[in-house]
Amino acid sequence: SKSYEAIEVSQHGKLGLIALNRPKVLNAINRSMVSEILDTMEEFEADSSIKAIVLCGKGRAFAAGADIDEMANDQTIDFELRNQFKDWDRLAMIKKPIIGAVHGFALGGGFELALCCDLLFAADNAEFGFPEVNLGVMPGAGGTQRLTKLVGKTKAMEWLFTGKRITAKEALQHGIVNQLISEELLLEETIKAAEQIANQAPIAIRLIKEAVLKAADTSLNEGMEFERKNFYLLFSTEDQKEGMKAFIEKRKPQFKGK
Ligand code: CAA
Repeated sequence: SKSYEAIEVSQHGKLGLIALNRPKVLNAINRSMVSEILDTMEEFEADSSIKAIVLCGKGRAFAAGADIDEMANDQTIDFELRNQFKDWDRLAMIKKPIIGAVHGFALGGGFELALCCDLLFAADNAEFGFPEVNLGVMPGAGGTQRLTKLVGKTKAMEWLFTGKRITAKEALQHGIVNQLISEELLLEETIKAAEQIANQAPIAIRLIKEAVLKAADTSLNEGMEFERKNFYLLFSTEDQKEGMKAFIEKRKPQFKGK
């Protein structure tokens, strides 16, 4: 199997697992970590045995942000020439569901990574936040946009201006996370939830993800049109025929992802 610098990769049944793995620096996200995450996600995307992706962190945090040591001496033009956030654009193209498990800190780029997940489970000790302002900067990997679309201007502005930490409970209240789980059970329960999704009809899951993400980025009418076309499209899948036949025959459907 392949060797990685900054992540750990495994397969668990229908799930592809990625664990951020720089525990000594609280999984600070350096450029090679983001590339490894995306290379792996694209491999999972191309692997038909994998139906969903789980993302978690090793050690005492999910991720305490972008690697400050790596970027402290960067100049504007360095970011421009290396197209610093190109891997984050690749992340937005992943069509399989991504389920995140956050414990400890999810700060800065770590929070941004969490906000890219389709479902998010958090340990009671999870803490989210955008401390970039304390470093004289701001989020650059979607934080100001995704957080605001998710929770609205009022809280986004407050959290981004102050850099203060959002507790797991607050994150739940504001719809940032789906569910809180004790730290000991977090990964196990996240895997269970991901397995349920992995057992659904894969093309339906894929088109639902696409349609929900579209909602954040378009007018209602355009989104409705998009949804409708995806709905029509599902009637050319075998899984639609099987799903409805199984309902009528009062049995469990056997989905094939076709
Ligand atoms: N980058 C580089 N190293 C980091 C890091 C980061 N973002 N976060 C933590 N580390 C390192 C620490 O330097 C420390 O290393 P040493 O042992 O070599 O000193 C190690 O991880 C453990 O951290 P602490 O000793 O600081 O642990 P703590 O429990 O006392 O504090 C913390 C934890 C509050 C998260 C603190 O580490 C911290 O404030 N980290 C920085 C958080 C931050 O500002 N993140 C935003 C980064 S900018 C960004 O993300 C921009 C973007 O949008 C792309």
